[in-house]
Amino acid sequence: MASANLNVMIKAARKAGRSLVKDFREVENLQVSTKGPGDFVSRADREAERIIKEELRGARPNYGWLGEETGMEPGEDPTRRWIVDPLDGTTNFLHGLPHWAVSIALEHKGEVVAAVVYDPAKDELFTAEKGDGAFVNDQRLRVSGRRDMSGAIFATGVPFGAGKTLPATLKDLARLMPVCAGVRRWGSAALDMAYVAAGRYDGYWERGIRAWDVGAGILLVREAGGFVEPLRPFDGPIADAGSIVCANSQLFDGFAAIVRSRD
Ligand code: IPD
Repeated sequence: MASANLNVMIKAARKAGRSLVKDFREVENLQVSTKGPGDFVSRADREAERIIKEELRGARPNYGWLGEETGMEPGEDPTRRWIVDPLDGTTNFLHGLPHWAVSIALEHKGEVVAAVVYDPAKDELFTAEKGDGAFVNDQRLRVSGRRDMSGAIFATGVPFGAGKTLPATLKDLARLMPVCAGVRRWGSAALDMAYVAAGRYDGYWERGIRAWDVGAGILLVREAGGFVEPLRPFDGPIADAGSIVCANSQLFDGFAAIVRSRD
């Protein structure tokens, strides 16, 4: 049974999801306008964060807050913080691509203890609580059982523009792509990790990633039986490490060695 905290998170994610779905329909219409939907999407993103903040802080006013749009606010309880991305996959949303999600994590003493990733376009609600497993729409999740790299599919994020992690990511791809069955770049880190938890991808890695992108995904993967680590040793909450690698337990070592290589 879901804890009171998880129920609060689910309610907030669904409410923000309803608001985003309404805006997404509008965005699809705006594609043809010359101005494009940029400002509209920024407003949709901020409104979704406002809704989530109102729900979460209303229910637990003493917890800290870290949101993509509104930044960090310490709480009276220094051991707990919400980590929120109201719209992960903003570029997809902006282009009318139905692959984006609301991501909410609850961290306690530096460890994620409850997670929700909600994909309103496909109506998939991914949830996890520490020690209680991971689920999609109440169906238990397990990472894939694949053992051979040659059959495995991995996901990543490639930085846009002149992102400074681009050269390293391109080198990762050059090492990885010849030895696996494919690499996907679908544009939502939260869903990438949820899909690893669901066994749809065999692993995921990304450089230059932020806590709100991966906070919930970390627990989903772990509770589905996968391994999650920062790319480089990091002394602090894993969500803050700035890079991440995860996979099923059989593939983790071989896959991590490839994306950690400095060659
Ligand atoms: C982005 C997505 C994308 C990842 C980027 C993130 P946003 O989050 O998760 O997949 O590659 O690193 O910034 O900006 O859409 O919330």
